[in-house]
Amino acid sequence: MKIPVNNDLAYRFLTPGCTVLVTSAWDEAVDILTVSWQTPVSKEPPLLAVSVARGHYSHGLIEKSGAFVINVPTEDLLTEVMFCGTRSGREVDKFPGTKLTPEAGLKIDVPHIKECVAFVECRTVQAVGAGDHTLFIGEVLKAEVARGIFDGTWKMGEAGTEFLMHLGGPHFFLPGRTIRYGKG
Ligand SMILES: Cc1cc2nc3c(=O)[nH]c(=O)nc-3n(C[C@H](O)[C@H](O)[C@H](O)COP(=O)(O)O)c2cc1C
Repeated sequence: MKIPVNNDLAYRFLTPGCTVLVTSAWDEAVDILTVSWQTPVSKEPPLLAVSVARGHYSHGLIEKSGAFVINVPTEDLLTEVMFCGTRSGREVDKFPGTKLTPEAGLKIDVPHIKECVAFVECRTVQAVGAGDHTLFIGEVLKAEVARGIFDGTWKMGEAGTEFLMHLGGPHFFLPGRTIRYGKG
């Protein structure tokens, strides 16, 4: 026996996504957007996607520049994650507003965030309209991660892997135990 859930909450059944901070830049403008609707979409070429509401300031920057960076924050950045997820770049400059540190892009002219444990620079290859959001699909151009926490998969339990798994609204959980199936 199961109970019905409103259609608009069904997305929360899906494995909660690791919350990320998406940086974007165009001309003099730079923004940081909190995003939990993110997903890998292709292995070859490696493509990642983020779903961004059309009204967001970041949306325009990503659209114009054709590039974005996915930064991976951890629990210590929860205040910054909520700041970037509740304030608009139209009203506040988020780098000084959060005291997060921009580091120059390597392959694209979009900064990544020093305090995050990993970043992926992406060039938009497709922008798919989806309801009130746009799914920006980006080809991976460059990816870097902090030493000691990733060896092909995250080394869960190591300091620096306290990812913010988003449940919805202000609710998160931190990853707990990991399991492995066979030798794969
Ligand atoms: C935890 C969390 C996750 C969020 N995930 C998304 C998301 O996946 N896509 C999206 O468009 N907005 C998402 N938001 C909302 C935006 O981050 C928020 O509206 C932001 O203030 C827009 O900033 P901007 O106008 O500077 O682009 C999320 C907010 C929070 C707090």
